Amino acid sequence: MQYQIQKLNNISKKESRKILGLMSGTSLDGLDMALCEISGHGKETQLTLLEFETYGYGEVFKNEVRSVFSTQMVNLEKLCMLNSWVAREHASIINAQIKKWGIDKSEIDLIASHGQTIYHAPKRQHQQNEFENSTLQIGDGDHIAHHTGIITISDFRQKHVAAGGEGAPLAAYGDYILFADKKVDRILINIGGISNLTYIPADAEFESIVCTDIGPGNVLIDGWVKENFSPLKYDVDGKIAASGEVQKALLDAMMNDPFLKMAFPKTTGPELFNKQWLEKIISEHGIVINKNEDVVATLTAFTATLLTSAIQEFATSEKACEVYISGGGVHNKIMMDTIQTNLPKIKISTTASISINPDAKEAILFALLANELVSGDGSCFGKGSKNAPNVGMGKVSFAG
Ligand SMILES: Nc1ncnc2c1ncn2[C@@H]1O[C@H](COP(=O)(O)OP(=O)(O)O)[C@@H](O)[C@H]1O
Ligand SMILES: [Mg+2]
Repeated sequence: MQYQIQKLNNISKKESRKILGLMSGTSLDGLDMALCEISGHGKETQLTLLEFETYGYGEVFKNEVRSVFSTQMVNLEKLCMLNSWVAREHASIINAQIKKWGIDKSEIDLIASHGQTIYHAPKRQHQQNEFENSTLQIGDGDHIAHHTGIITISDFRQKHVAAGGEGAPLAAYGDYILFADKKVDRILINIGGISNLTYIPADAEFESIVCTDIGPGNVLIDGWVKENFSPLKYDVDGKIAASGEVQKALLDAMMNDPFLKMAFPKTTGPELFNKQWLEKIISEHGIVINKNEDVVATLTAFTATLLTSAIQEFATSEKACEVYISGGGVHNKIMMDTIQTNLPKIKISTTASISINPDAKEAILFALLANELVSGDGSCFGKGSKNAPNVGMGKVSFAG
């Protein structure tokens, strides 16, 4: 057998694998790195988080990515260069982090790299019949593999799109593996730039779970804070929101967006929910802004209201329903408190209470996808569904 394939084959047969899951989301805040020890596959998976770190991106990285991020017109040469540049940046961040952890590289079996999403264009958004759902992540896996010397599984979303999905959210798979419960319905929510939800009824087969984006998570809040409360990059712990008042007229106007009225499941991104979207609503409704704090409070209430009604839509059964939240949004106290106040009968927790670090969850989910690709037998996800097809996601880049 060709030696690279042989090596991958050996990894797939190991009792347990060390997989470094990577996530870099729409918030463009940093590279999440979750080093996981994973044994088994599917429902038998056992996962231990060995190490976790977020490397905060510097301004140079952010500005380079922003030059092509969520924008319809880009410099194609720049995009071409960034595909490898982002990967090399990631590789050097990874190499430095592995050193810091004091781990020998040879101990890490695989890297599971999400890449950097630069555009998400589901058909519902682009509405061009001759084109399918589309999404694009840059930071090519070959470059990461070559510069780290570790086999890299990357670009997970394309197979999902190929099989008819929108390429997002991919949380369904890992959430099912980690959190499906025999007795209770569970709702998992991730509040990143965009927020998403996975509904897993008690004792569910994979086909019956629902995984969907909800709408904006932190993206609008971050944008307003960056512009009006520089040098802050986000509303730390929700303190600005706490000092403002919710403007009902603005909240009502935002709630009227047609995307929010579409039935679940659906996906979106900062291509839709961005500064221009907010400014248009403010001007079309003649809304007068008195204090920037009020806008932050209102945007926070907006996300909290969307999450509340999404939870209400799924938490309808007689059985108890548990809600676990992850992503950077869990640190926004106002957001979390508002959701809990809106839903007094449902206990809202973070995934920390079920032993998963909420900041690491998404990176862990990609490590799980890589584990399934390399060692899964395809049975766990049954027939799959339109929005969560049962396909092996991720491309293999050998390290040679
Ligand atoms: N202490 C905090 N207080 C409030 N918000 C926070 C805090 N820490 C992180 N966040 C929010 O979480 C975002 C990052 O969340 P993350 O889960 O990494 O999202 P993404 O997957 O989009 O990168 C930040 O941009 C910020 O909005
Ligand atoms: Mg992030």
